[in-house]
Amino acid sequence: MIDRSKVVEAAWKALEDSIISYQGSPVGTLAATDKEVVALNYDQCFTRDFAVSAIALLMKGKVEIVRNFLIVTLELQSREKQMDCFVAGQGLMPASFKVVSENGKESLEADFGEKAIARVAPIDSGFWWLFVLRAYVKATGDIAFAHEAKFQHGIRLILDLFLTTRLEMFPTVLVPDGSFMIDRRMGVNGHPLDLQTLFYAALRAAGELLVADGEDDTYVKAVRERTGHLAFHIRFYYWLNLEHLNEIYRYKVEEFGETAINKFNIYPDTIPDWLIQWLPEDGGYFAGNLGPALMDFRFFAQGNLMAIIASLASQEQSQAIMELIEQRWESLVGSMPMKLCFPAVEGRDWQLITGSDPKNIPWSYHNGGSWPFLLWELAGAAQKTGRTELAETALDIAAQRLVKDEWPEYYDAKNGRLIGKEARKFQTWTIAGFLAAQELLENPKNLELISFDEDFNVISCSTK
Ligand code: GLC
Repeated sequence: MIDRSKVVEAAWKALEDSIISYQGSPVGTLAATDKEVVALNYDQCFTRDFAVSAIALLMKGKVEIVRNFLIVTLELQSREKQMDCFVAGQGLMPASFKVVSENGKESLEADFGEKAIARVAPIDSGFWWLFVLRAYVKATGDIAFAHEAKFQHGIRLILDLFLTTRLEMFPTVLVPDGSFMIDRRMGVNGHPLDLQTLFYAALRAAGELLVADGEDDTYVKAVRERTGHLAFHIRFYYWLNLEHLNEIYRYKVEEFGETAINKFNIYPDTIPDWLIQWLPEDGGYFAGNLGPALMDFRFFAQGNLMAIIASLASQEQSQAIMELIEQRWESLVGSMPMKLCFPAVEGRDWQLITGSDPKNIPWSYHNGGSWPFLLWELAGAAQKTGRTELAETALDIAAQRLVKDEWPEYYDAKNGRLIGKEARKFQTWTIAGFLAAQELLENPKNLELISFDEDFNVISCSTK
């Protein structure tokens, strides 16, 4: 057995090595510092990746870099983001940025998706930014920082993007494929769980940080209202356990009118065979996506874990998710915590869903690969539900390999035994995810930085 404390030591050193400075101050971390492959955009600071670094750093009391990151990204937010002639919404936060130096003068160059592979929209960036801002305030107690006019303006710009009137029937956010951590085509368009749970956490963060502009502040009201509706919608309609699966199996279809039970017109034939065997008696999880005649039955780790951390899941549901992880440990954790998504799509499904993406072949990368950065969310969810033994075991498993394998971005194969085919080494959020998990387990008080209490607004909503 490798001594975990030695791995922790190596991880802090590796995280330090990824820090970038702008005008003499630390402002972020590079996505990866692998010197053996072409950097592409991995030499940039990604908002979603930095969120994990920020959590680890804040838990260690290193607050300055996080403060600087929040300031520089806020400045980038209001820049014009143009692709061809189209100008994207003002509230968008950058997917990533880098420091460029010309004639001894430094400046920041951001990507809002207009340079990204396949031009994917970084819809999650603003959500992560709010999450980090709130964690910073929790860690430092410096609420005055978030109350500064420029921050209040930034928060409202983000909310403008998501809370304005839309052509939609649901409280969830409608997004194109690849608009979050899974930034490639993977059948995660529509209303993917990962993004909805993050949206929920961001709304909760905004609710805490906004200074009400009078009693009738429309933003404060809208946040309050949407949080409740969103939680009800996810808790009730996305939830999958054996009882609910039985209901879906016997659903009537083509129901019209207000009394419809099968509201989304899910056809029972779409229940995949694997699920019927796989779902344990007393575990459950939120489905990956929901829309007209669509229920994506795949398990997505980030969405389910964040649902626990943000109290989007009821306490009963949170316990059921952890129970599922324990009982289906081989599928979801195996040799490396943990599967981003389970199971992989294969064959003709893979061709149609991913567009025959060679990077997302079955059991690799986003398509059933194992991502150690998820450790921090696993530890947070475990801490919150009193199941820390699961996170301890997961961390021990990861510690046996991460240093030796040089902190890979992801692992491949059904059980996660292979280093990812195209995985970067020295991937920063692998390092930071491990560290944040360690900090969470060592000092349970750290959970306050990332978790949200039950919102009594939704408590009366029934959960099946
Ligand atoms: C990959 C991941 C994305 C991450 C980026 C940088 O593109 O899919 O989620 O932000 O790498 O690490």
